[in-house]
Amino acid sequence: MKAIVITEKGGPEVLKLMEVDKPEPQGNQVLVRIMAAGVNRSDVISRSSKGYGKPVENEVPGLEIAGVVEAVGADVQRWKQGDKVCALVAGGGYAAYKTVDERLCLPIPDGLDFIEAAALPETIFTVWYNVFKTSRFKWGENFLVHGGTSGIGVTAIQMVVAMGGKAYATAGSVEKCEFCESLGASMAVNYKEEDFVALLKPVGMDVILDMTGGENTLKNMEIMNPDGRMAYINAMTGTKSEIDILQLMSKRLQLTGSMLKPQTDDFKAELTWEIETVIWPLVAEGKIKPVVHQVFPLAEAADAHRLMESSTHIGKIILKVGDEFHTFATTHIL
Ligand SMILES: NC(=O)c1ccc[n+]([C@@H]2O[C@H](COP(=O)([O-])OP(=O)(O)OC[C@H]3O[C@@H](n4cnc5c(N)ncnc54)[C@H](OP(=O)(O)O)[C@@H]3O)[C@@H](O)[C@H]2O)c1
Repeated sequence: MKAIVITEKGGPEVLKLMEVDKPEPQGNQVLVRIMAAGVNRSDVISRSSKGYGKPVENEVPGLEIAGVVEAVGADVQRWKQGDKVCALVAGGGYAAYKTVDERLCLPIPDGLDFIEAAALPETIFTVWYNVFKTSRFKWGENFLVHGGTSGIGVTAIQMVVAMGGKAYATAGSVEKCEFCESLGASMAVNYKEEDFVALLKPVGMDVILDMTGGENTLKNMEIMNPDGRMAYINAMTGTKSEIDILQLMSKRLQLTGSMLKPQTDDFKAELTWEIETVIWPLVAEGKIKPVVHQVFPLAEAADAHRLMESSTHIGKIILKVGDEFHTFATTHIL
């Protein structure tokens, strides 16, 4: 089958469309014929090996897919051939086919197509775990996400608002800030021109989702309310930060962080069940919507990475896997 392979660490040009072995489902795995795959900043980090990702060579990137179940392993209970699913995967999404533990698949919500469904898993799982599980976000609380128009940001704003919270964001342009507010953010601060501490300290944050690190750690601590919680999911401006221990003690702050990709299937299966129970109904009601910025054909994954690295996008970048990449024994079902 065809897949995009990281042939060596480097720029987007190291992503090459190549022939690789088609996987076969074992045990509780389903084989998904991929129709669309989400692009994530983690894929860019894996490719370039900058930041927290390990360099990955001769590996197929891609952390989320949407498609059709083509075959099932002997122990699969829930899914059957022809079911439309989206799933969280730990690599291998930029391909025509992927095997997935059946517990990590979710039904595609009514009304969404494959492109939109592929935009959901990675950000919803990340926000669910860090904001709602680890940081125990509660109804009525104030929440801040830095990078409000990132794939993560647009999901975080919508999830918090849908769950009865007030969302705040920072973003790097007026246009990006307006978009955050159109999603329901109470205020978005253009951090390149305005001081988010001055604007958000009077509001006070209960939970902060931070992908920036660096100098923002101290600033975040300053704007947090007593018993505030902060979860790191990256450190795009620096992995080393100063903390104010007096502030930590006097406000009883909690700082945490996580990486979703390396977690076990059991860990992710628990999140999948929680998300299907709590978040999927909100997606079905249209309270949480996929925000797709641009779709690229699978073969143009390098251009998709170039766009992501430009940081000019708002929301998700998606790869569409055309039917020319699939093999059909008979007339296909779509
Ligand atoms: N730990 C985990 O499990 C986990 C899971 C998923 C994602 N993440 C992380 O969450 C972040 C968002 O992921 P994503 O896929 O949604 O990314 P994305 O769509 O590419 O968004 C990243 C955004 O971050 C902002 N940004 C802030 N500082 C930046 C810097 N120094 N360089 C470049 N951009 C910067 C940019 O917007 P502005 O113009 O507003 O600056 C950019 O659009 C990434 O850092 C990713 O690694 C972590």
